[in-house]
Amino acid sequence: TLFASRVVAGIFGALGDPLARLVRDTGSADPYPIYESIRARGVLVPSRLGPLMTASHPLANSVLRDARFGVMPNSEMTGLDLDLRGHGPLPVVDPIEGSFLMRNPPDHTRLRRLAAPSFSPRALREQTEIVESVVAGFLDELAERPSFDLVTDFAARVPIKVICGLLGASDAEHARMMDWGTTLAGAIDGVRTMRQVHTLRRTLVELNEFLTEVAEDHRARPREDVVSHLLADPDLSREDLLATSGLLLAAGFETTVNLIGNGVLALLANPEAKRRLIEDPDCAPNVVEEVLRLDPPAQFSGRTALEPVELAGRVVPKGTPVILLLAAANRDPEVFADPHRFDIDRPNAKDHLAFSSGIHYCLGASLARMEGAIALRALFTRLPGLRLVGPVRRRPSRAIRGPLRMPVTARTRS
Ligand code: HEM
Repeated sequence: TLFASRVVAGIFGALGDPLARLVRDTGSADPYPIYESIRARGVLVPSRLGPLMTASHPLANSVLRDARFGVMPNSEMTGLDLDLRGHGPLPVVDPIEGSFLMRNPPDHTRLRRLAAPSFSPRALREQTEIVESVVAGFLDELAERPSFDLVTDFAARVPIKVICGLLGASDAEHARMMDWGTTLAGAIDGVRTMRQVHTLRRTLVELNEFLTEVAEDHRARPREDVVSHLLADPDLSREDLLATSGLLLAAGFETTVNLIGNGVLALLANPEAKRRLIEDPDCAPNVVEEVLRLDPPAQFSGRTALEPVELAGRVVPKGTPVILLLAAANRDPEVFADPHRFDIDRPNAKDHLAFSSGIHYCLGASLARMEGAIALRALFTRLPGLRLVGPVRRRPSRAIRGPLRMPVTARTRS
């Protein structure tokens, strides 16, 4: 199946099918020309692989806000990805496919409401202090090194600390959580080889065991965090408890790592913006917003028509997937002037769809913005001479975009 699906994508890609090109070009350094070719074909573009696609900001936004569309298992999005279901029933709860991210109302509403208190403004203020202090600590340590990896030694450590805090897990768990988070994010794109299938299964088993222990610990010693909030609901099933707590790692880790990584890349490529950030660190939130717009970590999302829907002059039959190219919508010239330019003074940067829209709008958006702003501001004010000392390796993914490895130094050139 794997080989056949690659061949199909290869043939249709060669024939110019835009979705097949996206699938074929997994990990390509620059997907933006493909998005532009899709935009040039119209607001709602069919693919021979089945789904419809849109690069239009208003259309993507309206589909995300339309109750006639719902979420669907990731595997159905392109019709090409193998997923675990193709390899027999899962032994454990899957925090992506089994969580409220992939559920429609009323389940979605009920579960999201249970998780929401942990993302309140008060919780955010507490997290802000923690992030400021850990980031300063990381930078003290990195400033002493001749070179380091921006992704693994810095960007990845910030969200892991936050997520361990949300789950009430100890710092000793950071390394395991990082491994699990990386595997889960890789699987969003589809699981393509048997090796990936095994790794994902092992990860899910370990994560389920860990989250079960976390829950038991909270049952014995309740506190003010997500897990305790979830446990306070006597009707919550074990599956929903594990999926919801696991979702924080699945949705909140790699996305934030890539926000920081893409932010550093954007600032190194735009010295004027970097200078502004160093001189006026308070503009960090603008920088973050523009990074999210121009190079969003989550490149696309999908919805399925739950009933026949008339959309952009076409009837979309029930069950048809529609791929919302968030990264392309963020460069829609109808909404953003000079859309390919990195401009931290853009008045409407916040209108981007990097956090989606409608009922699934990212629950961690404020948290992610805060982490990104603190990380970028502290990094460049503390290490203003930061520069690359080797090639950037990108993630082999089309759904999640960002650097995987990024060797840097803060030392001045000798
Ligand atoms: C949902 C992006 C950080 C938790 C989403 C969605 C997107 C997104 C696009 C919606 C997907 C869809 O509509 O199909 C991002 C980006 C982040 C980020 C770009 C960082 C830059 C976080 C963080 C957390 C988090 C830090 C929590 C620790 C969630 C949750 C959902 C979600 C729980 C599900 C919401 C729902 O289905 O109602 N995120 N996210 N995210 N995100 Fe984030």
